[in-house]
Amino acid sequence: MAEFFSEYKTYIVFLHVLSAVVWVGGMIAMRYAAHPSFLQIESPAHRLERIAHALKGLFAIVVPFVVILLVTAVIMIIGLGLSKSEFSMISHAKEGIWSVMAINLFVMITRRNRAVRLLNEGNMVGAKFSLELIGKYMVPVNIVLGIVAIFLGVTLSNLF
Ligand code: HEM
Repeated sequence: MAEFFSEYKTYIVFLHVLSAVVWVGGMIAMRYAAHPSFLQIESPAHRLERIAHALKGLFAIVVPFVVILLVTAVIMIIGLGLSKSEFSMISHAKEGIWSVMAINLFVMITRRNRAVRLLNEGNMVGAKFSLELIGKYMVPVNIVLGIVAIFLGVTLSNLF
């Protein structure tokens, strides 16, 4: 794996960085550019429908990149022997951050699906509650964690 990593380092790090850009950038664009615009829609049902629809698109885009991020990370963990190196703490911190972000994303996907089901049943209050949690807390938490992971990535790349 060490040989594989050194031969394809440029492509692996490129895919790793691209995945972080799409995942974190996608959440920032959705939360701070698209979301405020959706809130201008007067009809609550239409507003919630549009938010749920946009989230579906966002999740469909980011999920493959979440997987690529993990695959490239595992290649780097093995290829660089990160777990046994002096940088193992940073590597473990990034593994932890990825795990929390991925679990948070999975819960957001289930909450969005639940909100759509509630919307179809005409339960506007329940749907609003489910979507509000995503926008108010879950996406911002993942943005902050993603930014910390990017900072740790820059720290790691400066150490090699
Ligand atoms: C799953 C555990 C992770 C591990 C083991 C890991 C490992 C690494 C390593 C070793 C580098 C340095 C690559 C090099 O320059 O040779 C790096 C860079 C980077 N990582 Fe991660 N990473 C992980 C998760 C993440 C996450 C969750 C994000 C963001 C969402 C992220 C974003 C970045 C970015 C943007 C860089 C590029 C920094 C630079 O080139 O200056 N990583 N990562």
